[in-house]
Parts: sequence; C-alpha cells; structure tokens
Amino acid sequence: MERRGPCSSFFRSPTPNTANMSRKFFVGGNWKMNGDKKSLGELIQTLNTAKLDANVEVVCGSPAIYLDFVRSKMDAKLGVAAQNCYKVAKGAFTGEISPAMIKDVGVNWVILGHSERRHVFGESDELIGQKTAHALENGLCVIACIGEKLDEREAGITEKVVFAQTKVIADNVKDWSKVVLAYEPVWAIGTGKTASPAQAQEVHDKLRAWVKTNVSEAVANSVRIIYGGSVTGSTCKELASQKDVDGFLVGGASLKAEFVEIINANV
Ligand code: PGA
Repeated sequence: MERRGPCSSFFRSPTPNTANMSRKFFVGGNWKMNGDKKSLGELIQTLNTAKLDANVEVVCGSPAIYLDFVRSKMDAKLGVAAQNCYKVAKGAFTGEISPAMIKDVGVNWVILGHSERRHVFGESDELIGQKTAHALENGLCVIACIGEKLDEREAGITEKVVFAQTKVIADNVKDWSKVVLAYEPVWAIGTGKTASPAQAQEVHDKLRAWVKTNVSEAVANSVRIIYGGSVTGSTCKELASQKDVDGFLVGGASLKAEFVEIINANV
C-alpha cells in the first residue's frame, strides 16, 4: 500500500517483505548552527548528484538565515526544513521567524521540540505544543522531537517522559499525515553513543502503541517514528532494520558525504 502525505515529494514503491512497507522511510538532516554558503553549497551539490534510494523522503534542516539559499540550490526532490519557528504569524518578536516566512521562501518543513531547544533554550512542552499547532495550521509539516535525558532513563522513567512529551504534541495535531515523530534520546545526541537497535525499537514500539491507544490505530500504522542520536554510516543499517524505526534525524553525520550512506541505509 502506498501512502501519500502532503509533505512527501515522492512515494515508496511497493517493496515486499518489509514490515513497515506502508510508511515511507524518512531521513532528516539537522545541520544545527553549522556551515556557511560555501560548505553548504558543496554539501547540496553532493546530495543533488548522489544516487539516493528513491523510496526515501529526505529533508534537510538548515539554519534560518540560509533557508532561502538552500531551497534555491537543493534539488526539488529533496525537502528543506527550518530548525525552529515561533507560535504566531508576525509581530514584535525580535529574533524569531514564523511559519508564514518559512513558507514564503518555499520551505515546507520545520523541526520543533528538538532537545537543544528544550534544554539549552528552555522551551517548555506547552510552547512546543503551541508552535506545533501554529505551524500545522499554517501549512508546514512538522518533525516533532521527543526524548529522555540520561538521568530519566537511569531512573526508569523513559516511557513516562516520552509519553508526556508526545501527548502535548498530539493534543495539537489534527492532520497526522503532516507530522513525523523523532525519538531522540538526549544522551545519544552529539555524544557518539548511539542507542542500540534494541533500545530504539523498544521505545518506538511503545510510542506506536501509545499513538494507537491515544490517537487511533490508523495513525499508529501510518505515522513515521524516526530515530535520532549519533546515527552514522556504520550504525544506520541495523537501526533501519528494526520494525518500528521508519528513518532517522541525523545531526553531525548529515554535514558529511556519509549522509548519503544513511539515506541509502535500506539499499
Ligand atoms: P547527532 O544529532 O546525530 O549529531 O547526534 C542528532 C540531532 O540532534 O538531531
């Protein structure tokens, strides 16, 4: 079965023997506050000309100041995301950008609730929920990030934390075809300590069950739950083989040619 979401630029062709065949594999790059026109231009050139698995939806998260540049240079089959946005359309909010502005430069995605927004900039669940609602209402698709900190995992409250974060997001979503959930354990982000395939699968499975109970079975079956946290060319294949891992959100490795290997994890 093929599923068409409004943010998808192309679609998974039927591939037998894939447990998650109804969900198009999704690989996001999160460039964070890195790069300049020269290095990002070179990276875009690499991506534009690489042989990429056509069954994968690729979206690159650019620094706000380069969104227009990146969208103009990146091949149309590749998506672009902002890394954040505010919860209203315009006004006296110095330093912020709105979904309307993001759309105005031809960009269709935004990453919201990233752990660095939560833990470096102190964004609350409530604010992330409000941003999610506003971004979706204004036509953006959202990569919504959730994930527990190390002390929370060690205290055995991973589920409690990620369910609570997911609930605030879910309360603000009407059309789930525009949302990708990114499970990113904070202890794995930028640390070189990737979650094991079993650890990722366990949380993804529980998240999907949560969605089934609290949203619907149809949404649970169709929503892409991607993993983020030190994904590399060498860890991606085994992670990708997990039943409930529908792709990745990649930080450090998305700035290197290695990103192509990660996009092609299923090939
Ligand atoms: P990382 O970052 O791949 O560098 O760990 C992932 C993320 O922050 O999305």
